[in-house]
Amino acid sequence: MRPTSFAGVALFASGAFAQYYQRLGGCPSLGCVFPPDQADFLPGQRFDIRLEVHSPVNGSEARTGAPDANFKFTIGRKGHEGVDVTEFFDIEEPELERWSFSWYEDLFAEDAETPSLVDVTSKAYRRVALYEPGEYEAILTYYGEEQTVANWLVRDVPKKRRAKNVVLFVGDGMTTNMITAARLIAHKSINGKYQSKMQLDKFPVLGHQMTHSMDSFITDSANSATALYGGHKTTVNALGVYVDSSEDPFDDPKFELLPEIFRRQHPNAGIGIVSTAFLADATPGALAAHTSDRGEYDHVIGAFLEGLTDHEWTKWGGPDVLFGAGAENFLASEDAPRDYYQLFTDKGYTLSLNKTALDAVTNEERALGLFSISNLPTWLDRNVYQSNLKDQENHPDGSGRDAEDLPGLKDMTVKAIDILDTRRREEGWFLMAEAASIDKQMHTLDYDRSLGELLELDDTVRATIQRLEELGVLEDTLVIVTADHGHGFDVTGAVDTDYLAKQEDDRDKRRAIGVYANSGLSQYTVAGPNALRYSEGVHFPARWDPRYALHAGTVAFPDHRENYKVHKEGPRTPAEEGGDGTYYASYKDAVTGFLLNGTLATDADQGVHSLTDVPVFAQGPCQELFGGVYNSNDIFFYIAECLGLAETKGGDHDHGDGHCDPKY
Ligand SMILES: *[C@@H]1O[C@H](CO)[C@@H](O)[C@H](O)[C@H]1NC(C)=O
Ligand SMILES: *[C@@H]1O[C@H](CO)[C@@H](O)[C@H](O)[C@H]1NC(C)=O
Ligand SMILES: *[C@@H]1O[C@H](CO)[C@@H](O)[C@H](O)[C@H]1NC(C)=O
Ligand SMILES: [Zn+2]
Repeated sequence: MRPTSFAGVALFASGAFAQYYQRLGGCPSLGCVFPPDQADFLPGQRFDIRLEVHSPVNGSEARTGAPDANFKFTIGRKGHEGVDVTEFFDIEEPELERWSFSWYEDLFAEDAETPSLVDVTSKAYRRVALYEPGEYEAILTYYGEEQTVANWLVRDVPKKRRAKNVVLFVGDGMTTNMITAARLIAHKSINGKYQSKMQLDKFPVLGHQMTHSMDSFITDSANSATALYGGHKTTVNALGVYVDSSEDPFDDPKFELLPEIFRRQHPNAGIGIVSTAFLADATPGALAAHTSDRGEYDHVIGAFLEGLTDHEWTKWGGPDVLFGAGAENFLASEDAPRDYYQLFTDKGYTLSLNKTALDAVTNEERALGLFSISNLPTWLDRNVYQSNLKDQENHPDGSGRDAEDLPGLKDMTVKAIDILDTRRREEGWFLMAEAASIDKQMHTLDYDRSLGELLELDDTVRATIQRLEELGVLEDTLVIVTADHGHGFDVTGAVDTDYLAKQEDDRDKRRAIGVYANSGLSQYTVAGPNALRYSEGVHFPARWDPRYALHAGTVAFPDHRENYKVHKEGPRTPAEEGGDGTYYASYKDAVTGFLLNGTLATDADQGVHSLTDVPVFAQGPCQELFGGVYNSNDIFFYIAECLGLAETKGGDHDHGDGHCDPKY
C-alpha cells in the first residue's frame, strides 16, 4: 500500500527542502545524482547512473533560463581528483535528454491546483560497476559553480562463500508486537510462563532493521523489498530502481538484484519465489522487476518470465519456482494480452492450479503454481471459517469457479525447497517466501486474520527447518525471518465481548475493556466449541471466538466500529465510501460495536504502515551478521556476503559482459 500522508510543516525558501511533497526524492538541490549520496554497493554490482539538472519555471524555487545542458560529472576515489564519468568507466557519452514535470509544493498548492513546473536536462549512463572497495566521490557540476556531491561506498565484503542456500522469510508488515500477540493466542501459559514457544522464539540470533526509505521515513513494500534484495534504499512504489523525474516508469536508473547477481555468477544457482499475495505484488515482484511503478504488473510477470530485454544482467532466466496467487495477472486480458500460463509452460515450467496438483508435481522441472485469482484466501478462512471460500469465483483458471483445493504458505514453501534441492543441490539456491497477508489483514484492521497468517508463517518456518534437516542441508542453509516494515499494532487488554454487545451506549460499551489486572489471561488457548481443530503438533489457537477477546488496535485507522470479535463471515471491510469520495465506518462490520473516529485523512479506507524497526531472526551460516541494529539494505549485503557474491577485479568471478570495465 502507498503510505498515506502524515502532517508535515513545509518551509519553502529557495533551496529549502520540502517534507510533505518533494520536487524529487533524494534531490533537495537542483542537480540530482542517482545513485544518490550515501549509496552503498556490493563490489561488482551492476548499476545505472541518472543525472538531472532542474530549472523550476515557477513556484518558490523559480529561476530564469533553461536547465544546464553542459553539466559535468566526475567520479574518483575519495581524496583523489575525479575524472569524467566516460573516462572513469570507459563508456560512451549518452545523448542529452529533456523533459518537464510538475509537482505540488504543499497542500495549499494542491487545493488551488497550482502545480510548480520544472524543466529538466538529463543523462543516463547504463550498466556500470565498481569493483574496488572504498569510498568514492561522484560530483555533478552544473550552472557553473553549483555542485551536488554523492558519497558512494563500495563495501569491503569478504568473498568467501559460507552458505550454500538461503531461505529468506518475509512476514510482510510483521512487528514484534504482532509476534507477542500471536504467541499469546496460540501458546499456553501457566502463571506467566509459556509452556511452549514459537519457532521464531528459538532462533539463536535476533536483530532489528530500520526500514526508513531514501526520501520518507515510512516505507511501502516495494521500496523496502528493493532494499532487502538490492541493497539500495529508494522511493515508495519503486522496484529495483531509483526514481527519476521522467514520466516513463521504465527508464529509471536500475541496480542489480540478488537473483540477478547470483545467477550471473552461478548460472546453475536456484531461485525460488513463494508468496500468499498475488505474485505481481511488490514483495515477490521486487526480486525481478525494475520500474518506478509497482503497479506495472505485466512488467513484473514479464520480468519473472524472461528478465528485461534492455539490460543484459537482468536476463537471469527466471526462477525455478514461482508459487503464489494472482492468476489475474497471468491470464490474457484486454490490457495484457499475453497468456503467461502458455508462455511459462513453453519455457518448461509445470503448472499447478490446486493443492493436489502442487503436491503431485515433479521436483525435476521448473514450477509455476497459482492458486487464486487475486491474493490467496487467509489461513483463517482456509482452515477455520471455510464457508468463506464459497462464492469467491477465484479459481486460477479464470473460469469463475471457486478455488477450494488451496495450499497454504507451508505447502508451497516445503514443495519449493524440494524442487530447489532436487534441481540445484550442486550450486545452491535462494528462496524468498512471503507471508503477505499479515500486512494485508493489518491494513483492514482484521487482527485475527493477520495473526493467523503470522502463526502460519511460524508453522512454515518450523516445517522448513525440519525439511532442510531431512534433506541434510540444514547446516549449509542460512534461514532468515524478517519483515519489510510494521504497522502500529499492539494489545492493551481484554474485552468482555458479551458485556460490550449488551450495552446500548457507545460510552458504556467501553466499560467492557479490561486493562492491567482486568486483562486476565488468554482465553484463546482454552478449548471451547471450536476447539482443538488445529492442535496436532502445531500451535494455533484452540478457539478464535472467546468471550474475552484481545483488546487490539493500531495507531492509525479510518473511521470504523469495533466489537473485538473475530469476523467469522469473512475478512473485514472496516470503512465504506459514503458517496462523497470519503470513507465512513461500516455499520455491518461490527454491529454490536462502538464507533472509533478515524485518525487518518477521510479518503483512507484502511490502516497504514508505521515507523517501527522490525525484527530479524537468523540461524545457520553467517547468523552472527544479523545481530544488532542496522539498516534494511544491510540485509542484502549480509546475504550477499554469505553467498560469496562480492566480485573484485581479477577475483573469483568472471564479470565479462564487455561493458563493465571500470578503472577500479
Ligand atoms: C506554473 O505554470 C504552469 C503552466 O503555465 C501553471 O499551470 C501552474 O499553475 C503554475 N504554477 C504556479 C505555482 O504558478
Ligand atoms: C487439480 O488440478 C488437477 C490438474 O489440473 C485436476 O486434474 C484436478 O481435477 C484438480 N482438482 C481439483 C480438486 O480441482
Ligand atoms: C466522531 O466524530 C463526530 C464528528 O465527525 C462527532 O460528532 C462524534 O461525537 C465523534 N464520536 C466519537 C466517538 O468520538
Ligand atoms: Zn502494506
